[in-house]
Amino acid sequence: MELTINGRAYTVDGEPDRLLLWVLRDELGLTGTKFGCGIGVCGSCTVLVDGQPTRSCITPVSTVAGKTILTLEGLAHTGPDGARRSFIRCSGLSRSNKSTSAATA
Ligand code: FES
Repeated sequence: MELTINGRAYTVDGEPDRLLLWVLRDELGLTGTKFGCGIGVCGSCTVLVDGQPTRSCITPVSTVAGKTILTLEGLAHTGPDGARRSFIRCSGLSRSNKSTSAATA
């Protein structure tokens, strides 16, 4: 399978139903993605897949083949402003801020 992670191309072999989290951490050494609950609840393992927040602990690696994956390591290269914008976009804070602004205006 071909994966594009943080702008770099990787080829991974093995079972297609392996979880993305373990491929990132154990096979590719991208340990910025953390294990927490393992059931898709806590968000510790979140990565961006084609710009969408994705829980890597419940995502089979085969479902992200050919897509663009961004991990914490990739955010480090975007600089503080880029990382902040990505985080805000992922967390939905920008919508919260608009609601708060409208409520207080
Ligand atoms: S480890 Fe908690 S959501 Fe993935």
